[in-house]
Amino acid sequence: MRVGIIGGGLMGREAASAFGRWFVLQDMPVRAELTAVCDLAEPLLDWFARVPTVRLRTRNHHELLASPEVDVVYVAVPHHLHEALYLDVLNAGKDLLAEKPFGIDLAAARRIAQAATQSGRFVRCSSEFPFMPGTQRVIHAAQSGAFGRLLEIRCGFHHASDMDPAKPINWKRQARFCGEIGVMGDLGMHTVHVPLRLGWKPRRVYAQLQKIYTQRPDGRGGMAACDTWDNAMLHTDVLVEGHEVPMRLEQKRLAPGETNSWYLEVLGTEGGAKFSTKEPKTLWTFARSSEQCWQRTDLGHQMAFPTITGGIFEAGFPDCFLQMWAAYAAEWAGTLGARFGCATPQEAVASHELFEAALRSHSEKRAIELS
Ligand SMILES: NC(=O)c1ccc[n+]([C@@H]2O[C@H](COP(=O)([O-])OP(=O)(O)OC[C@H]3O[C@@H](n4cnc5c(N)ncnc54)[C@H](O)[C@@H]3O)[C@@H](O)[C@H]2O)c1
Repeated sequence: MRVGIIGGGLMGREAASAFGRWFVLQDMPVRAELTAVCDLAEPLLDWFARVPTVRLRTRNHHELLASPEVDVVYVAVPHHLHEALYLDVLNAGKDLLAEKPFGIDLAAARRIAQAATQSGRFVRCSSEFPFMPGTQRVIHAAQSGAFGRLLEIRCGFHHASDMDPAKPINWKRQARFCGEIGVMGDLGMHTVHVPLRLGWKPRRVYAQLQKIYTQRPDGRGGMAACDTWDNAMLHTDVLVEGHEVPMRLEQKRLAPGETNSWYLEVLGTEGGAKFSTKEPKTLWTFARSSEQCWQRTDLGHQMAFPTITGGIFEAGFPDCFLQMWAAYAAEWAGTLGARFGCATPQEAVASHELFEAALRSHSEKRAIELS
């Protein structure tokens, strides 16, 4: 699987790191190689000179898309560019791992999903936290039915990245680049991927959205408008085995004390489980008995796609990002089997439907029904 990257910023380089140690994956039917990169910034293109497999570095994404040495394209650019670049990838006959939120808004996401279907190309959307060992354990326990009747589901992603009001503005804080959905576009796909895959699709949402800092330094001595939502709390209802279950999805850029904390918690009448990247080797499980007791399990490197890393060693962000790419490659090659897969275009569209309903809910101060 020869990969080209469009957008060699934060995530483009993270992807390069995953391909750089692809050889740690054991029994992987697909060999992945990063062959080409496109970015507008020369210093970033220079950075990719250290990746020996990269044979093409260009500022023109059409040149990358014309390369016969690229099968799959990973696009990691600001949200206002998603639609045009994703469609260019599909029109060039390449497969795509798109970054979230899969278009700047619902209309764009729907057009991309339709183009993906029409093109017949393999398209998935980035979301890596389901591939942490702790998340995999929560998913498998929830799927087993061991929790009994579900009481409550919570999934969230908390940052403190905007706690400093002196932090200069960037494209993620401006609606024309990030989208009206703001923090939901940044962090929301991460909170809905597991619930949607497990069939927990919100039927109703009541949203609380907050804009805390409305301007930030522009980096040139002045101030610029910061017009995106900082925090979003989505109170939803999902139907599980005929029962309505409350599900809370939290996306926060102003969460005191949190650098990049993603969590999933599922509680039922018979049992429950919770995992947070804040404690990456800790799985909490609950099984109803005469005493109220949460059990703490120390996890190691038990991955869906095994690697050479010793089983007792703990996992981190680069590991789950590599696992996500392994899941993409396995599904691309038709060998995913029963393992958890990357987010589909349909799931990305469903996430946008939820976020658009959340915008309406907040402005009308009422719950919105989703079809
Ligand atoms: N999966 C995750 O955990 C995760 C984390 C952060 C960001 N993201 C997503 O990744 C995407 C990129 O975010 P980022 O943080 O890497 O942004 P970034 O600003 O660090 O990088 C974006 C890069 O795109 C380049 N670019 C802009 N226009 C281009 C064009 N026409 N052709 C080629 N390159 C172009 C820029 O020069 C920049 O280097 C966004 O969709 C974001 O939501 C995902």
